[in-house]
This record gives sequence, structure tokens and C-alpha cells, in this order.
Amino acid sequence: MIELNNVSKKYVSYRDVIYALNNVSLKVNDGEFICITGESGCGKTTLLNVIAGMITPTEGEIRYDGLITSRDKKEVQKYRRERMGIILQDHSLLYDRNVYSNVELPLLLKKTEKEECKEKVCDWIKRVGLEDKMRSYPDRLSGGEQQRVAIARAMVGGADIVLADEPTGSLDEDNALSVVGQLKDLVRDGKTVIMVTHDLDLIEMCDRHIRMEKGKIVSDI
Ligand SMILES: Nc1ncnc2c1ncn2[C@@H]1O[C@H](COP(=O)(O)OP(=O)(O)OP(=O)(O)O)[C@@H](O)[C@H]1O
Ligand SMILES: [Mg+2]
Repeated sequence: MIELNNVSKKYVSYRDVIYALNNVSLKVNDGEFICITGESGCGKTTLLNVIAGMITPTEGEIRYDGLITSRDKKEVQKYRRERMGIILQDHSLLYDRNVYSNVELPLLLKKTEKEECKEKVCDWIKRVGLEDKMRSYPDRLSGGEQQRVAIARAMVGGADIVLADEPTGSLDEDNALSVVGQLKDLVRDGKTVIMVTHDLDLIEMCDRHIRMEKGKIVSDI
């Protein structure tokens, strides 16, 4: 379980102070499929990045299965690295590498042994339905296929918590449904998915809908 307690993120400029997150408390249970919505600038990306550890909150603490950010720095870092997978809207695939090499990358960084690497990479590419495109380069893939590569890359290291920031933002309806279908499969396998979306149709597919306004959670159903 991930628990945010009174988390705020404040940006101070010479003119004003912006609370990208304003006293947010939230419990994320294992195996939930959560979507986060809200107007542009309300703090959705900040919330995901704070959970992922890419942004440090100005106030409050986060607990990951009991590990506390302020106390267990090393363990929290390890937890995030090993258990979280991140998918961004622009998926940030490397265009000079084919599908296989893109998915392989996180394992190479972890110095995974070659045979194990191959097995995991092929397994995930199959799971997202791209075994025919294993040697293709990203610019030869549709937006939805590229996003599925990003899912495989986020998951290949064994993550069980997936943070997805508008993973369907640049996709047409069919591709968006296929990507969310993949995320739903992950939930079925017991993984936790937190997804930012603007798409009202996709909200229906989630277990829980968190709506944000001006750095606060205004509804959670
Ligand atoms: N590095 C930064 N410095 C100053 N202000 C920032 C910074 N990052 C974000 N903000 C501000 O924090 C607020 C929340 O930003 P955030 O990116 O979380 O919004 P969002 O809900 O993801 O919006 P969108 O739907 O457009 O992606 C915005 O007002 C934004 O301008
Ligand atoms: Mg955003």
C-alpha cells in the first residue's frame, strides 16, 4: 500500500507561490486501478511524480508498505526502482533502437544476465501483442503500438505498480482502448495501476476515480 499524508508541493517564483499539490492525503491499495482527472494545471503530473520520487514534496510524507520517505531513504529508493514502472504521454522511446532493444534497456541498466534478459523481453513483447514487430523501429509503429512498447519497457523489470501519465493522450479511440486493455490486464494479474487521463470513456474502466482541482483532491469514488 502507498500512503500520502498531507503532501504539498509548493513552487515559489519572484511573483507568486503556486501549490501544485496542496495538503493531499491518499491511500492506494494493492491491485487497484485508479484514474486521476482534473483540469490542466491542477497537479496530476505532480502527484504522479511525487509518488514516483521524481519530485520531492515540500511538506508531508509518503509511505510505501510502511517505509517512510523521511526515514528510510535508501529502502524507499530501492522500492521505487524495483517496484514502480512509469509510462509517459510521449512514451520517450529511443528511435535509434528497435522494439526489442527499447524494452531491453532497463534490464541492461540493471546488468541482468543475457539469457534472462532475452526471456523477459520476449515475454513482455508477446504480452503487449507486438511479437511480429520485435525488430521494428518505433517510427514504423502506430501511436498505440509505441505506447504498448512503453508499457512493456515499464514492466519488464518486474514492477508491480504502474504510474501512467496520460498514456492514451495522443491516441485515437481504438488505440486508446487497446492500451487501457493492456493496463487492465496488468490489474487482473494483481498489479496496481494509477493513470492520469482526460478521457471520460476510460474512467469507466477503472475501479476508482480521483478528481483534482487546484492541487487538491476534490472527489474520490
Ligand atoms: N517546475 C515548476 N515550477 C513552477 N511551477 C510548476 C512547475 N511544475 C509544475 N508547476 C505548476 O504546478 C501546477 C501543476 O502542474 P502539473 O504539471 O502537475 O499539472 P497537470 O494537472 O499535470 O496539468 P496537465 O493536464 O496540463 O498536464 C501548474 O500550475 C504548473 O504551472
Ligand atoms: Mg500533466
